[in-house]
Amino acid sequence: MEQELLQLQAEAVTKLSTLESQKDLEELRVRYLGRKGLFTGLLRQLGKVSAEDRPRLGQLANQIKEELDQKFTARKSELAGSDTGAAIIRDDLSLPGRIAPFGRLHPVTQIMDEVCSIFIDLGFAVAEGPDVELDYYNFEALNIPKHHPARDMHDTFYINDSILLRTHTSPMQIRAMEKERPPLRIIAPGKVYRCDSDITHTPMFHQVEGFLVDRKVSFADLKGILSVFCQKMFDQSDIGLRFRPSFFPFTEPSAEVDIGCVICRGEGCRVCKQTGWLEILGAGMIDPEVLKMVDYDPEEFSGFAFGLGIERIAMLKYGIDDIRLFYENDLRFLKQF
Ligand code: DAH
Repeated sequence: MEQELLQLQAEAVTKLSTLESQKDLEELRVRYLGRKGLFTGLLRQLGKVSAEDRPRLGQLANQIKEELDQKFTARKSELAGSDTGAAIIRDDLSLPGRIAPFGRLHPVTQIMDEVCSIFIDLGFAVAEGPDVELDYYNFEALNIPKHHPARDMHDTFYINDSILLRTHTSPMQIRAMEKERPPLRIIAPGKVYRCDSDITHTPMFHQVEGFLVDRKVSFADLKGILSVFCQKMFDQSDIGLRFRPSFFPFTEPSAEVDIGCVICRGEGCRVCKQTGWLEILGAGMIDPEVLKMVDYDPEEFSGFAFGLGIERIAMLKYGIDDIRLFYENDLRFLKQF
């Protein structure tokens, strides 16, 4: 029995020194030290050995097992650094590279960029202003005095009596006109805030305000600019355009502008509620009262202005019926744009 134990040890040690891969090492370990391995087989025979030899042989067996365990562990760590199979995989330059995941612009940002670039091509400059705005710019200077009923439509977030989150981008008309003299051709993109939330409203959304002031600006100029914008935005050169009389305190006359439904092309569908038309923006000729607020002489200068909602355009363009999808950050939704 002693002989057999020593022989088994010698055999295992020789084999251990010649093998080259972790896989072979594991096979060898199972063959010698595994539960059904050769070493365990020998130990079973310990019961048959005479009682007087048993303690000595038992001790020898334990010692051999311990030494072999150590040798296996040491060889394993030697092989770990230079396992040939792994080395080949690490260095194989013909394997395809790992693709770095790409981000993309949010659909609202994409539409915002598109709207701005159309107006930039038409000669408009871009102006940006504060989200936290004075009551004066958001309302007063736009001909909406305190207690004017038009304020009710705006669902304003007030910070205090005179400071608020802007409810539209129209205050930029005043800020820009205060700084410069006509001629002026400006768009003002940005975030706006209203205390309102349902499938077509979020408390924060985006608008682009546009206005042009010069001598002899007429409603026909407004129509011309908006027609070109709608044709380019919706990629449709014969797009229908309809001006409906409306009211805004800062424009006179005022209009709401509809385009022929881009989904059904005027036939009538769910998106246009069977009317064939989609409302896309508010516009008008800048009210003389507003021009007076910035010391422009309404006898000398006139101008038009318009304001459009970016989310609304994105919804119409892509046939989306719930505005909240833009702000849920669900990648399944966002990946489509
Ligand atoms: N500021 C308006 C709103 O948020 C939109 C608007 C309407 C802007 C008519 C204009 C305009 O410049 O002329 O509801």
